[in-house]
Amino acid sequence: EMSEQERVFQDRIDRGEKIEPKEWMPEGYRKTLIRQIGQHAHSEIVGQLPEGNWITRAPTLERKAILLAKVQDEAGHGLYLYSAAETLGVSRDELLALLHNGKMKYSSIFNYPTLNWADIGTVGWLVDGAAIMNQVQLQKTSYGPYSRAMIRICKEESFHQRQGYDILLKMCLQGTHEQKEMAQDALNRFWYPSLMMFGPSDKDSVHSAQSMQWKIKINTNDELRQKFVDQTVPQAEYLGLTIPDPNLKWNEAKGGYDFSEPDWNEFFDVINGNGPCNVERMEARVTAWEDGAWFREGLMAHAKKQDARRAA
Ligand code: ACO
Repeated sequence: EMSEQERVFQDRIDRGEKIEPKEWMPEGYRKTLIRQIGQHAHSEIVGQLPEGNWITRAPTLERKAILLAKVQDEAGHGLYLYSAAETLGVSRDELLALLHNGKMKYSSIFNYPTLNWADIGTVGWLVDGAAIMNQVQLQKTSYGPYSRAMIRICKEESFHQRQGYDILLKMCLQGTHEQKEMAQDALNRFWYPSLMMFGPSDKDSVHSAQSMQWKIKINTNDELRQKFVDQTVPQAEYLGLTIPDPNLKWNEAKGGYDFSEPDWNEFFDVINGNGPCNVERMEARVTAWEDGAWFREGLMAHAKKQDARRAA
């Protein structure tokens, strides 16, 4: 049963009003947002690792400058999102502690390795492509600060997707036979993990129903996965690459492709910490946090000194 206060809140959501930080909200709404925005922020930060790995090995100065800018953008996205989460009454330090002790998740996709330059193209094309597909609808999410962060992030994300596709255009349309084979191999490895980014199938999605009633989520996991496949297949065709799915087939009646589901056992394995790079990713984040301690302490000492001067 909804209380009067909860009913008034739901009416505001139904009318399409945005909820702002100081306004009343059900505890479940606040908790769900902290979980989702926090997980989203962590994904942006951890997502720097697989690509950062290739900054020093980019094939040209131009590609290096582009990749560097993209990876820096991801750090910025993480910061907007931590700020959005902080408006809900949780601090950035608390969120990071929960990431570091394994109590909060980040996107499954970043637990896969980037083995070569074709992977960097493929990550931009598929991973950023999937991220945009999810984030475009989140611009309409009911929580004001999250929605506004998404607008900016989507603009930058579309540059990220294009830079990835551009790498693959070069490799597939102007490259050598070996380069095209590298691109196909990268697609083979990243296709299903990219489909997993949208979360479990709707029947196994524990949060979707409530999150959609609150308009925290606008579309279901399966709806977005379908849209992603429909958008991506023609892009693969243009590159002359084959989607690694023998069941992929245009379905005229539904106006979309039929396709194979990813291996959900693998998905749950990865989000429970057992993917190929989970340990490496967490070690890198925890080490970065520990190595940065002297700097945070220095900043705090400086701020204290300034405060003391002002008080004197
Ligand atoms: N990776 C890791 N965990 C996932 C993933 C995934 N791809 N998909 C779902 N999960 C987790 C959920 O967090 C939830 O676990 P929890 O209860 O411990 O938090 C569980 O699996 C069940 O899933 P759902 O009930 O479907 O969860 P939810 O309603 O939160 O939907 C989704 C998942 C679609 C990822 C949603 O949280 C979302 O839209 N998040 C914002 C977008 C985002 O985080 N993008 C990050 C990747 S893109 C990038 O940053 C570049």
